[in-house]
Amino acid sequence: MSASANPLHRRIRSFVLREGRLTKGQQQALNALFPRFGISLSQGPLDLASLFGRPAGSQAPKILEIGFGNGLSLAEMAAKQPQNDYLGIEVHRPGVGNLLLQIEAQGLENIRVSHDDALEVLQQQIPDQCLDAVYLFFPDPWHKRKHHKRRIVQADFVRLIHSKLKAGGIFHMATDWQHYAQHMMKVMSLAEGFENNAGADQYIPRPDYRPLTKFEQRGHRLGHGVWDLIFQRI
Ligand SMILES: C[S@@+](CC[C@H](N)C(=O)[O-])C[C@H]1O[C@@H](n2cnc3c(N)ncnc32)[C@H](O)[C@@H]1O
Repeated sequence: MSASANPLHRRIRSFVLREGRLTKGQQQALNALFPRFGISLSQGPLDLASLFGRPAGSQAPKILEIGFGNGLSLAEMAAKQPQNDYLGIEVHRPGVGNLLLQIEAQGLENIRVSHDDALEVLQQQIPDQCLDAVYLFFPDPWHKRKHHKRRIVQADFVRLIHSKLKAGGIFHMATDWQHYAQHMMKVMSLAEGFENNAGADQYIPRPDYRPLTKFEQRGHRLGHGVWDLIFQRI
C-alpha cells in the first residue's frame, strides 16, 4: 500500500481538493483528450524521450510545470516554444479539463498532462536527471503560520527537484506573497547543489517566457509585488 493510500502514513499535502464544478466542455475534454495527452500514476516510470512522440534521438528540452492552475500560462508557453516539451501536473480537475481544451483549440502537440499529486509523480514517474527546467508559479501560499508546513517548497521537495534536474537545469519559482518568497529564498539558499542565477539572496526579473497572468497584471496595478527566483542545478 502506498503512503498516500494508508491513512496512518498520510503525509501533509500541499493542497486541499475542492472538486469544483466541471463545465460540460471540460468534462468532454477530459473524456476525449485525457486518454491521448494524459498520464496516470499506474503507468509507472515514464520514458520522456518517447512520451511526446518526437523522432528518436530528439533533444527537445523537457520542462515540468507543477500546479498549472487553469493551464493558460502553460498552453501559452507551449505554443510560443514548440521546440520544448512540457509536462504539466495539476490536482484540480477543472484545471486539467481547461488545459485539455486549450491543447485542442491551439492544436498543441508538445504538452502532456498529469492529474496526480506532483510529489508522487516526481517520486514514481520522473526518471532522475531528465528535466531541463521545473516551473512552480504562484504555489498556494498557505498564509497562516499553522499552515506553513503545507507549503510545497520544503527541503525534501527541493532535494527531489534537484535529483530530477539535469546538470545546468533550472528551478524557477514565482510568488506574489512576500513571506513565501522569503521562505523560498531561505530553503533554496540552504539546499545543496543549487546556485541562485540572480546572485546570493537576490530575486530575478520575470523572464519573457513566463507569461504575465491577468491576476498578476491586476496585482501590478494595485501595487502588489511579485518575486521570481531561479536556481540552477550545479
Ligand atoms: C495558487 S494556484 C496557482 C495556479 C497557477 N500556477 C497560476 O499561476 O495561476 C496553485 C495550484 O497548485 C495546485 N497544486 C498544489 N499542490 C499540488 C501538488 N502537490 N500537485 C499538483 N498540483 C498541486 C493547486 O491545485 C492549485 O491549482
